[in-house]
Amino acid sequence: MKVLIVGTGYVGLVTGVCFASQGHEVLCVDADSQKVRPLQAGDCPIYEDGLQSLLREQLRAGRLRFAEDVPQTAAYEVALIAVGTPSRADGAADLTNVFAVAKDLGQKLQPRAVVATKSTVPVGTGDKLERMLVDMGRTDLHVASTPEFLREGTAIKDTLYPPRLVFGIADAHSAEVLKVLHAGVEAPAVVCSRATAEMIKYASNAFLATKISFINEIANICARVDADVSQVAIGMGMDPRIGGSFLRAGLGYGGSCFPKDTRALVNIAGDVDYDFKLLKAVVEVNQLQRTAPLRQLTDWLNDLSGKHIAILGVAFKPGTDDTRESAALELAHALREQGARLTFYDPVVRRCPVHGSASIPVLDDPYLAVGDADAAVVVTEWPEIVDLDWPLVRQQMRQPFLYDGRNVLEPHTMQSLGFTFANVGRRAMPAALQV
Ligand code: UGA
Repeated sequence: MKVLIVGTGYVGLVTGVCFASQGHEVLCVDADSQKVRPLQAGDCPIYEDGLQSLLREQLRAGRLRFAEDVPQTAAYEVALIAVGTPSRADGAADLTNVFAVAKDLGQKLQPRAVVATKSTVPVGTGDKLERMLVDMGRTDLHVASTPEFLREGTAIKDTLYPPRLVFGIADAHSAEVLKVLHAGVEAPAVVCSRATAEMIKYASNAFLATKISFINEIANICARVDADVSQVAIGMGMDPRIGGSFLRAGLGYGGSCFPKDTRALVNIAGDVDYDFKLLKAVVEVNQLQRTAPLRQLTDWLNDLSGKHIAILGVAFKPGTDDTRESAALELAHALREQGARLTFYDPVVRRCPVHGSASIPVLDDPYLAVGDADAAVVVTEWPEIVDLDWPLVRQQMRQPFLYDGRNVLEPHTMQSLGFTFANVGRRAMPAALQV
């Protein structure tokens, strides 16, 4: 099948490479020549496990191409819109790019092509796109919604082996085309209306974000009643009605999706006069959670002015070099406002774009980063950080304060190494209970 994908961000690029690997003939278009040229040469602009090699393999096989423009007469059976939908100041998704791309497609696609959104778009966008195309005289095109559910770090696996597919359609032809497009993906498909498909995407992300904020609140209570949130999560997760995933307490969710999509869904609800109280609280809890280390550091060190704090981990989660809405940025910003001196370590991120200042270099040597530090904060649970030589870290630091913002370090061990230690509601297991 001839597939056109517009937008080579995380979603568009991974989707394009994966569809090519399944035998489709794929053209990925991006207006940004800075992105397109390296991609044409087989250089992947993002750090994603396995993507670079699969990209090169598909380029060599001639199934994947990159261009800056949609060709004038575009003979594609399906065109996927995968451009960014950034947050506007009021939290709503900015659809400028989506509509500009759809207009361009309306001028160039051959009759019967299916235009499907992959980007996360507000409920009702598919209907608006269809109206726009009809107004352009393109009653011969079909509009569908097929949202993606890939995670950064496991994007290829999530695309090729997803737990489900979602086809939001308004006609049988679109359903058939989406079925053929996904023929190589073995997963059950939910076939529904476009609005339902758009809502499935938001509701899924919002629900996962809710699980995270929920366990973070439980963690905060655990810290006050001497219970262990990690074990609470295990105990809860064994119930299949609850499930164990996304119950890791920590500094809250970041990245390019959950923060943006939760705010957007609050807006979508507001637009139809519905006050989504629960999701508003989820967003607020997440915001508060990020500043938890600041409160603890102030408690330990009093005045943070001139204190040296080492931030361990800059990416919003392990397995990616993405720093969008990373807890590290907000924490760094708050610490700098208090006059603290910061050093950063991350295994892959090389610069930290702290809000309100030029980006700060990130060290690739963790022991250098903690050298002479008054305190260290684990922000990202990279294996490289979890497996540090912690006795050496302690030796390098001037003062013993260590905050584990991802609950990945064993409290008892850290205390026995001489650290003054805090985390997010995980407690040291009493010796008598250790088996
Ligand atoms: C998320 C969803 O998981 C994907 O299904 C979805 O397709 C994607 O957004 C999107 O909308 O494009 P992603 O942002 O890559 O994927 O990252 P996740 O692995 O979901 O993690 C998001 C954040 O939640 C991270 O900051 C992570 O540290 C945090 N998190 C996750 C927790 O704090 N606790 C957990 O238990 C799990």
